Amino acid sequence: MSENSTTFSPELIEFINEWREKPGNLIMVLHRVQSEFGYVSQESADEVSKMLEIPFAKVWGVLTFYHFFKLTKPGDFNIQVCMGTACYLKGGEAIIEEIGNLLKLEVGGITDDGKFSLEAVRCIGCCGLAPVMTVGGEVFGKVTKNQIPAILKKFA
Ligand code: FES
Repeated sequence: MSENSTTFSPELIEFINEWREKPGNLIMVLHRVQSEFGYVSQESADEVSKMLEIPFAKVWGVLTFYHFFKLTKPGDFNIQVCMGTACYLKGGEAIIEEIGNLLKLEVGGITDDGKFSLEAVRCIGCCGLAPVMTVGGEVFGKVTKNQIPAILKKFA
């Protein structure tokens, strides 16, 4: 990842130029920015606003309306704990609590060393494995509180 979160790659710039005149371009471009940086910073939103000639307030409005967009930088390993119905009923909340205690982290937060961030998410589609969590995209199912230290250690 680039040091400067506002520096768009040549591929991203090309993508934005391709989409400049197309309908629905703002969402497409913001998705692309997020997949490049893992989130959309205020600086990135400003850059998109200038490149697409869309007022910043509108860009920011879209970003804050859709929960999909992240406005803060995630950790090197983003932890997602599913809070969909199946996972919730099987103890998703206790999983979040345990991770929070172990990493001294709140939902939406990031550890001081920038290694882990924590999110509560909706059903991720593997309810049969409830409760489910992911770390850096790797899925862990039927998670118990006791397993969490070992899971986190894999990424430490
Ligand atoms: S409810 Fe958690 S994966 Fe579906």
